[in-house]
Amino acid sequence: MSDVDPASGSRDEPGAPPVSGQAPAVPAGQPHAPIPSVAHGDVIDHEIENPVFITEELSVSYGSALAVEDVSLSVPEKEITAFIGPSGCGKSTILRCFNRMNDLIPAAHVEGMVRYHGVDLYGSDVDSVQVRKRIGMVFQKPNPFPKSIFDNIAFGPKVLGMKGSMDEIVEQALRRASLWDDVKDRLKDNAFGMSGGQQQRLCIARALATNPDVLLMDEPCSALDPISTGRIEDLMHELKETVSIVIVTHNMQQAARVSDRTAFFIVDMGSSEEARIGRLVEYGPTDRIFTNPHDTRTEEYVSGKFG
Ligand SMILES: Nc1ncnc2c1ncn2[C@@H]1O[C@H](COP(=O)(O)OP(=O)(O)O)[C@@H](O)[C@H]1O
Ligand SMILES: [Mg+2]
Repeated sequence: MSDVDPASGSRDEPGAPPVSGQAPAVPAGQPHAPIPSVAHGDVIDHEIENPVFITEELSVSYGSALAVEDVSLSVPEKEITAFIGPSGCGKSTILRCFNRMNDLIPAAHVEGMVRYHGVDLYGSDVDSVQVRKRIGMVFQKPNPFPKSIFDNIAFGPKVLGMKGSMDEIVEQALRRASLWDDVKDRLKDNAFGMSGGQQQRLCIARALATNPDVLLMDEPCSALDPISTGRIEDLMHELKETVSIVIVTHNMQQAARVSDRTAFFIVDMGSSEEARIGRLVEYGPTDRIFTNPHDTRTEEYVSGKFG
């Protein structure tokens, strides 16, 4: 997938976005104008100049059941974007489109467009393994491998044949995840001996070890206590200097605390249980979504009237 690989050398081409650190190049000839950042049909209140992702009328079905429909939004670079909304509204489904994780679910069918730095992420020449190197993911439940702390971090870089000293790669990833001081004297210990919060930071370090450009986090704190949650939220603030973050959370206070922009989804109740379809209702700067939502459904949700 040369398109999304920064090593492919099209960085200096005109039309590429300003690249910093590990941001990938956009192929020449695909510059993109600022795209309205709001849902289809909503009021345009803000534009995003260098989106990491743009979705256009993105819909996902599982088998014959449409799960989430017509999501159009753009995700800014080096910011934290939160997806909120009641259970089943498609937050995780849309998140998984950003690194093609839905490819691993045989029944899932994706329609519409996802662009990553202007590149069609579902294009036939795109290698999903490279996508997951550039776009890391952290899940609800910490899921370290049954290996040592060191080997958990070294796994991805080894598989990808990353060059350089493995000791340095591991140390840097653990430092970026604020875990180095906790574990530097027990790198050979099994990761299962760590606390839940440490395991989750290990999973973040593991995702960072391949130098991703984006971190997708699906309810990363919902299995953690408040102190561990606070550490992960602090970490997210540090990380957004170098990576773009999209977080799914059912915790509105968390979205308000950590995110720069918030997308609110609902489940549209059809005539039957099977006809429940997730939709994006409103998307904008987090402050505005929480203090001055444009849609009454957003207002009812953020004020706790349903959800
Ligand atoms: N692997 C799957 N197979 C079948 N249906 C799924 C699968 N994952 C999610 N769904 C369905 O898609 C809809 C959206 O789910 P999901 O994206 O998990 O929502 P959320 O993360 O907002 O709770 C739900 O109706 C859910 O049952
Ligand atoms: Mg979910």
